[in-house]
Amino acid sequence: MMFLLAVLCVLYVWSPVTWTGGLGSTPNTIPRKTVPIKSNGGRLFREEGIWNYTTMLLREDLNMLILGAREAIFALDLDDITVKKAMVKWPVTTKEQKECANKGKDATNDCKNYIRILHKRNDDRMYVCGTKAFIPTCDYMSYADGNLILEDKQEDGKGKCPFDPSQRYTSEMVDGVLYSATSLNFRGSEPVMMRSSEEPIRTEFSSTWLNEPNFIHMAHIREGESNPEGDDDKIYLFFSETAVEYDSYTKVDVSRVARVCKGDLGGQRTLQRKWTSFLKARLDCPVPINNVHLLVQDVFHSCPSDWTTCMFYAVFTPQLDSSQYSAVCAYKIEDIKTVFSKGKFKAPVTVETSFVKWVMYSGEIPDPRPGACIDNHARELHFTKSLELPDKTLQFVKEKPLMDQAVKASGDKPLLVKKGPAFTRIVVATTTALDGTSHQVMFIGTKSGSVLKAVNYDGEMVIMEEIQLFESSQPVKILRLSNTKRYHELTVIQSLSVGDANLCPKPDNSKSVSISFFHGNTVKLWCQPYSNLAQVQWHLNGKLIEASNSFQILSDSLMIFNSSADASGHYTCSSVERNYTTQHIAYDLKMWSASGTTALLHDVKEKENTLVAVVVVLSLILAMLVIWNMYRGHLPLPFCHRRVQDTCEEGPYVNQPQERKLASTTVNLNSNNNHMNDQRFSSSREMDRLSTTVGSSGQISLKYIDDESEI
Ligand SMILES: *[C@@H]1O[C@H](CO)[C@@H](O)[C@H](O)[C@H]1NC(C)=O
Repeated sequence: MMFLLAVLCVLYVWSPVTWTGGLGSTPNTIPRKTVPIKSNGGRLFREEGIWNYTTMLLREDLNMLILGAREAIFALDLDDITVKKAMVKWPVTTKEQKECANKGKDATNDCKNYIRILHKRNDDRMYVCGTKAFIPTCDYMSYADGNLILEDKQEDGKGKCPFDPSQRYTSEMVDGVLYSATSLNFRGSEPVMMRSSEEPIRTEFSSTWLNEPNFIHMAHIREGESNPEGDDDKIYLFFSETAVEYDSYTKVDVSRVARVCKGDLGGQRTLQRKWTSFLKARLDCPVPINNVHLLVQDVFHSCPSDWTTCMFYAVFTPQLDSSQYSAVCAYKIEDIKTVFSKGKFKAPVTVETSFVKWVMYSGEIPDPRPGACIDNHARELHFTKSLELPDKTLQFVKEKPLMDQAVKASGDKPLLVKKGPAFTRIVVATTTALDGTSHQVMFIGTKSGSVLKAVNYDGEMVIMEEIQLFESSQPVKILRLSNTKRYHELTVIQSLSVGDANLCPKPDNSKSVSISFFHGNTVKLWCQPYSNLAQVQWHLNGKLIEASNSFQILSDSLMIFNSSADASGHYTCSSVERNYTTQHIAYDLKMWSASGTTALLHDVKEKENTLVAVVVVLSLILAMLVIWNMYRGHLPLPFCHRRVQDTCEEGPYVNQPQERKLASTTVNLNSNNNHMNDQRFSSSREMDRLSTTVGSSGQISLKYIDDESEI
């Protein structure tokens, strides 16, 4: 089981107890289950007066989540993020705010200190940077005796942290040294990828290296320990930038992956204090819809064992909002490595007068290979560090850092393509199924504030759940996965391969819900299956009910029209998914025999099966209303509204409000809540709970006033 951290929201995500995976003919982009906000088990942290919670550092060693916001940093309990263990404020001074405003920035919004970098260092301290009213500043922070303490070191944060809080950036702490990709100047016109070691190393200020980039993700891959060719650790950078390689009159952005070697010290004369190993390639995520060009939005990397098993999972969205498709593509590290270490380069050629075209370079490639790390081959040639590399090699990489070949997605196609709210973030967990096989579970954040949980089973991607995180529609900005917050799965039965829910304990079918009705009533029996992919089946006294004048089968209920004595009997609702049947609920219907002068509302809630049965028997109330309306002269003829519309009312019109339905889908996954509520309300009480409105057209609608507390 996973522990998923979203912006201000910690979500315990349960693995499927009954997993009816696989696709068959069902489209794989319909989430199997929709988990509304009320039942997602999420926790929300929010501090009065503090905004823009956008930086997170998981400290599983301290069992804490460090949260960076605007002008404040929090330490939250990882077991329950609503518990604030400590907080420290880091505001801008009035002087800083004024100076920032004088430079033309918005004083109340931009000229604040947005915490943008939070990293764990090798010592007990953390490294933290903020935008500090467009003067990026860094500091050291420790957690001791229940307090967060900033040391007030005020280190220069240029090139580490963005000036502008709205800019994308990325950073990574590698063995105590910060690698960052952001803008180096106030205007944001000098993008860099930089290492803040004693002698900082960075990219060239050249559009050949970085062309109006949007930095997305950085990953340190520990390759040096076990590479047979004596190759070095790499730091991979994912970003998008303006393309140079297309003949296009309009600006086209492309997704890129770049990488540098950890041991890179820059060149001696050429590329002094610049990367000698910066190479980049286009990242392909082929989506076969409308020729849309997708841009990378977030990347998550996971290495199940050694570095050769590393995979990069990336979410893509279209650069023009005209298409609503998002995609997930995965990249094998070996494929990326092959492009950089064996692929061809691109080179600029000037055509006609001044137009520069980037084409495949087919000339001679110097040795050592441009952009390669110092490996056994370089050492054989007596180059032991980048400072010793020959000018020819360095000049080449300075002018031609772009590879000709693109990095292809694993399997040459996306793992998932989905229409709907754009994907924003991704994390991927590796879980071991009960049969010992390992599966990748993807959690994908969306622009509308939901998280999709998708699993790849034998190459097929199935969206198992869509979990709504926020009340209002707002994008998911951070997703973090904690590996320590796992639950014991010992009591779980799982049928991942065939999806046979019959392996699960049977629900208690002896219980059924009793319902009485009057002759001629319309009765609605609720049955909400677990899965959006399941088909509902109804049986009356063991016989399959088919749609007719008397019965209408809806996705969440059965309507029985004009019910007579024939409608009495034992009803069961079951759902069928992939040929497996699960019974959800049973009803016993009886015709009401009392010489009734009362209206009856029957509301049954069966929590475990997510069912609500509501039968509203309202003929008497309606009749009374009609009589009252006739008396008041609103209606000329019983049940007819000739004045306004030449139609007759066909029967009682029952308005089932939406909130009621939502509440009914509450799944309490936490408990084995098996009880049923079975209530009847007397007429006087009932009248309190029903408000009647008579519209000008004479149409009558009855509203059920939802009040959970009364039940
Ligand atoms: C900070 O939060 C406010 C309020 O939600 C929002 O309007 C603003 O755009 C945010 N600023 C940044 C830089 O994210």
